[in-house]
Amino acid sequence: MPETAIQKAERLKQEQNPWNELPRLLASFRRGAAAIDPDDLSHRLRWWGLYTQGDGAGAFGAAAPYFMLRIRIPNGLLTAAQTETIAALSEEFGRGLADVTVRQNIQLHWLEAEALPEILERLEAAGLTSKSACGDDPRNLTGCPLAGLDATEYADASPLALAVNRALLASGDYYNLPRKFKISITGCRDWCSNPEINDVAFTAFPRPGARREDRAGALGVPSPAERQAGGGAQPRQAPRQSIEPVWFGLRVGGGLSNTPFLALPLPVKVAWQQVVPVACAIAGLYRDRQELRQSRAQARLKFLFLKHGWTAAQFQAELERRLGFVLEPSAPDPAPVPEFRDHLGIYEQKQAGRYCVGASVPRGRLHAGQLAALAEGARRFGASEVRLTAMQNAVIPHVAEGNVMALVGHLEHWELPVRASAFRRGVMSCTGKEFCKLAVTETKSFAATLMAELEQRLPDFPVPLRVNLNGCPNSCGQHWVADVGLQGARVKTTNGPADGFDVYLGGGLGAGARLSQKTLGRVLATELPDRLEALFRHYLAGRQPDESFRDFVARAGTAALEAVLGTVPAAETPRREHQTFVPVEDLV
Ligand code: HEM
Ligand code: SF4
Repeated sequence: MPETAIQKAERLKQEQNPWNELPRLLASFRRGAAAIDPDDLSHRLRWWGLYTQGDGAGAFGAAAPYFMLRIRIPNGLLTAAQTETIAALSEEFGRGLADVTVRQNIQLHWLEAEALPEILERLEAAGLTSKSACGDDPRNLTGCPLAGLDATEYADASPLALAVNRALLASGDYYNLPRKFKISITGCRDWCSNPEINDVAFTAFPRPGARREDRAGALGVPSPAERQAGGGAQPRQAPRQSIEPVWFGLRVGGGLSNTPFLALPLPVKVAWQQVVPVACAIAGLYRDRQELRQSRAQARLKFLFLKHGWTAAQFQAELERRLGFVLEPSAPDPAPVPEFRDHLGIYEQKQAGRYCVGASVPRGRLHAGQLAALAEGARRFGASEVRLTAMQNAVIPHVAEGNVMALVGHLEHWELPVRASAFRRGVMSCTGKEFCKLAVTETKSFAATLMAELEQRLPDFPVPLRVNLNGCPNSCGQHWVADVGLQGARVKTTNGPADGFDVYLGGGLGAGARLSQKTLGRVLATELPDRLEALFRHYLAGRQPDESFRDFVARAGTAALEAVLGTVPAAETPRREHQTFVPVEDLV
């Protein structure tokens, strides 16, 4: 019997650890795309954040010998120098594009095989990596981009995110997982890193009466007692500020794709120094579940609950068996009241006289000049730090009060506005047909068209909304958790098939988290501005005071809203035609 796709994927992972194959891969890159082993091309390169991509106009495979590279940015934290390195690589090798992703990464496109050795070398020299950014392995660690800055946070959990990142990547134990494995760790109150849609999520909550040493221990920083005794690990990274110690709530099994599942809270609380061992133990638990290696489509951790009958109690028991200790029982920490946390604007930091400034990166697309401008802004007006958010935006922290307006002017000059319309703030998009071979529709350029149309039609729309676009059901752009989720679909027309979207409404995370509901299928992309305009006007006219769009959708019901979406009103403003493939220079 011929080998099936999953048998092949599993065999390749068993035969070789792609993390150890870099020297061989680099040698083959130097000989050009045609010289790359087909199994490397289709599988192993992903362990180094590399995917083949299309040519931007519909061709894939040998006709499009280009790569996309996902650069892993734990907790979204970048230095100005690192940002400059990525900007330079984008300019020199990536046709000036850089996409900020929903996991706080940056993706470069259009890379040619021969350039990859230099690109990876320069990333490494800058302290960056693409290791484990794609593939069946631990993906980028996400966290709050305001970690250590936000006066209301429970803790700056970013050192823990970095510690878990190091622990998972340093050891060869976690390269061969059934599929991708996503972790989020946040100390903020707003859960802006979307814990509920991660395989594992640690969310801080206050721990009255705990000692500070609990926190230092996890980082290898000796406690005062250890220091007195002359022992303890060498400091690897000092805590960045003094904060109250916390517990972490633990959720497992979240994920989207075509089978969305919100992570299950376990009835435990995790101490600071337990987070790294718990994260590694769950990675080990996941790795060893052979039942998750039978189907690629049902290989994520969530399928233990969805398909194999596991319960939260069973998961906890297996986790504790692996840990060799019992976790402290606790009622799950409640999810926060939903806030629109795109980090846009100017916020006072907990450090007196310092501000962070959040700029909008519509649909996550930057050009190299904008990326360099972020670095320049951080150097001139901040503390040479740039942070990326899960809503595909950028934040520059540590800006002195007297520099804030100069930075705002600098960012606006580079079309990175600090103030933006509801639609500019809320539109997010996956990679789409431009570069993704699984896509059925183009997304990035349509997102720009849609944003401009809605801005023009409803200029004073008062409520920020999440409008998320995906080019197929895989939901890389998270349509399940958006107010308006658009999932790419081909629509038959008299002139043949055209780009369209299924419209999903009413999704969102936090307290009362809900997945969006499919409300109207196969709407032509060209008709969406009219239909969404009608929907948003209906919401404005019918909402109760302060009623969120999500709550309005739940109250109105999908049948009523299907009728609103289904009637295309005469457009109140002239239509702009949407081109499926806009030349790249027009996109940036
Ligand atoms: C079976 C195939 C795939 C599935 C099921 C899938 C699913 C997903 C999901 C659910 C996310 C959500 C991110 C989150 O957890 O917040 C994601 C992220 C993403 N996916 Fe995919 N995806 C697939 C293939 C691809 C391909 C082929 C591409 C492009 C070439 C792609 C590009 C992205 C990007 C850019 C992100 C952003 C997040 C990141 O930095 O990790 N995906 N994917
Ligand atoms: S959602 Fe589909 S089209 Fe968009 S990047 Fe993911 S796999 Fe590609």
